[in-house]
Amino acid sequence: MLRRVLLAAAASERVRQLITTVPLTRDVVKRFVAGESAADALAVAQRLLAEGLSVSIDYLGEDTVDPEQAAGVASEYIALLDLLSAAGLTVGGRAEVSVKPTAAGLGLPEHGEKTAAENIVRICRAAKAAGTTVTVDMEDHTRIEATLRLVAELRADFPDLGCVIQSYLRRSPGDCEALAVPGSRVRLCKGAYRAPDGFALAARSEVDRNFARCMRVLLDGPGYPMLATHDPRLVAIAKSRAATIGREPSSFEYQMLYGIRTDEQAALAAEGAQVRVYVPYGGDWYAYFMRRLAERPANLMFFLRALASRR
Ligand code: FDA
Repeated sequence: MLRRVLLAAAASERVRQLITTVPLTRDVVKRFVAGESAADALAVAQRLLAEGLSVSIDYLGEDTVDPEQAAGVASEYIALLDLLSAAGLTVGGRAEVSVKPTAAGLGLPEHGEKTAAENIVRICRAAKAAGTTVTVDMEDHTRIEATLRLVAELRADFPDLGCVIQSYLRRSPGDCEALAVPGSRVRLCKGAYRAPDGFALAARSEVDRNFARCMRVLLDGPGYPMLATHDPRLVAIAKSRAATIGREPSSFEYQMLYGIRTDEQAALAAEGAQVRVYVPYGGDWYAYFMRRLAERPANLMFFLRALASRR
């Protein structure tokens, strides 16, 4: 119930106004967001790489409203990739980028898919020149078909373009089967959006079971699975399956969000696993922040306590 309210608030302009204008919010946001500028993201990436982790950097923003804004998002990514490359962080793909299709223009009323494809191609070219990769995030259920289509098309030229499958969707095991092909980079996560019952599994236990099912398809297949979860039970299942089938640690990776379960990130890396941290930055942090609150009531309490202590 609380999760539904927070996810609805993530899409509300009035609540956005309220929350983003409280000065203290920014202190709390810092736990999950690297900062507002590409230089902030670079500094965090440098620190995480020095700790033996990899990163995927996301320029925050979604649902761009006009083609110029969408082109501006691509230009921001290109400048970011230049910065990362100049600092030597893109070598071996250790620093890559994650892009939301609607930030690149997918939701535009006219030619959305074409605009998003053109912008993501620009980003992919810059990433390729820098020696690294791009992953296309998955947004709500209304964008799935278009996003999968877009990734499939772009993979003809950029075979290492990553995509995301969400285990809260009933359809996902089938999508994993289709994507489990050689070289295919697939991020598996539970899903951070709301979807109607016809599309989504309602119970957390069902979402977890579906994650385990999808994970098995990906780990047993010939692609490159990117297991994005902080759930210790699912990480344990992944470890056990990888050991059983003799999957090399270099042939898949774990992914976690910046600021969440950092101890587990370090522990996995110390065991020899590949761990990539998703690092968001930018001024448009509201929707991302609200999804993090929705995932964990304790985060909401932390936020509310911090607000109350300032009154
Ligand atoms: P779950 O929510 O069950 O949490 C398991 C445990 O992890 C919790 O008990 C807690 O200890 C910790 N935890 C989880 N979330 C926390 C939080 N916010 N604050 C503090 N602790 C927390 N989603 C999507 O729809 N599209 C996408 O493209 C992506 N991309 C993506 C990339 C990466 C690298 C990650 C890790 C996640 C995503 N997600 C995503 C988000 C994902 O779908 C999901 O909402 C979150 O990862 C939370 O789910 P968990 O699997 O961590 O499990």
